Amino acid sequence: MRVLSGIQPSGRLHIGNFFGAIRQHLQLQAEHEGYYFIADYHALTSNPDPKDLARFTLDVAIDYLALGLDPAKTVFWRQSDVPEVTELTWILSCVTPMGLLHRCVSYKDKVAQGLSPNHGLFAYPVLQAADILAFKSHLVPVGADQKQHIEVTRDIAQRFNQRYGEVFVIPQEYILESVAVVPGLDGRKMSKSYNNTIEIFEPEDSCRANVMRIVTDSTPVEAPKDPQRCNVFALLRLVAEPAELAEWEARYRQGGVGYSQAKKRLAELLIEYFRPYRRRRAELEANLDYVQQVLRDGAARARQVAAQTLLEVRQTVGLGPRNGSGGNISG
Ligand code: ADP
Ligand code: TRP
Repeated sequence: MRVLSGIQPSGRLHIGNFFGAIRQHLQLQAEHEGYYFIADYHALTSNPDPKDLARFTLDVAIDYLALGLDPAKTVFWRQSDVPEVTELTWILSCVTPMGLLHRCVSYKDKVAQGLSPNHGLFAYPVLQAADILAFKSHLVPVGADQKQHIEVTRDIAQRFNQRYGEVFVIPQEYILESVAVVPGLDGRKMSKSYNNTIEIFEPEDSCRANVMRIVTDSTPVEAPKDPQRCNVFALLRLVAEPAELAEWEARYRQGGVGYSQAKKRLAELLIEYFRPYRRRRAELEANLDYVQQVLRDGAARARQVAAQTLLEVRQTVGLGPRNGSGGNISG
């Protein structure tokens, strides 16, 4: 089965990205044909500082490799290195109803937050559909917030297939409901755009300091607490062994334990969890030529697949092969 996902280089990767998406990406590569990419065109919709875009793109590449992406097995590339995807975006745009995009919650959220919307942000889900459909991927592992974008992709693929014939595989999302949405320091969804994250590779001291800032309610130390409504417990759930988690749950319910005790333990568990990957990350940081080479090889492999789909799509809609690539207008 072909598994594909993308991640935006819109900031440093955080533990919400890891537990919501990256961990599944890496696990799935063992048994499936993995296609993972850095969605730099998607990140461009928020007009980042050019230096940041370049740095974060490289950081995402280094982080994925440090966390265990195996480039010998998995195709790993930067989205903008595969122009076939943007070409497909236009073709898909022409079967995408405006209403479908108007209903997208992530667009509405960003506008509600005061972001002045550009056309790229509005068309974002069509580019995402092209990412998925160009590679005929079956499974798309993402966090829960991406569910609607995968539904839009399915809708676009079905419309295309109905109008022109069965070209596209209808993809399925793969969401770990047990992880749901990882809360950030302020209790909202942890997100690069909310400045409420704990980075995967954050220095240890700053990780401890951030964990201590997690918002909790004002229940006194002695009083019983509801673990299900606590942001600290939600994060403990991700890194504590089941036996330890059960202990914390019991202590919360009994009372007599302060949130700061739980936070201290959480910080240590997080640091321990990511420690083995830190060394590997430092090695990669010192060998950027290797990282760039991985992205170049990945782009070449990805382009082969996407170019094949594009040829088929162009034929199907009546554009025919591109002039200058062995085809001619009369076909
Ligand atoms: P961000 O909101 O930080 O910009 P992205 O939109 O780039 O994150 O998301 C990358 C991947 O990580 C997606 O699959 C997304 O669903 C997942 N993800 C992001 N934040 C969270 C979170 N707080 N909890 C669970 N998954 C998340
Ligand atoms: N929109 C996704 C996110 O913010 C990133 C993304 C872009 C993606 N293209 C994709 C995810 C294709 C899965 C498949 O997380």
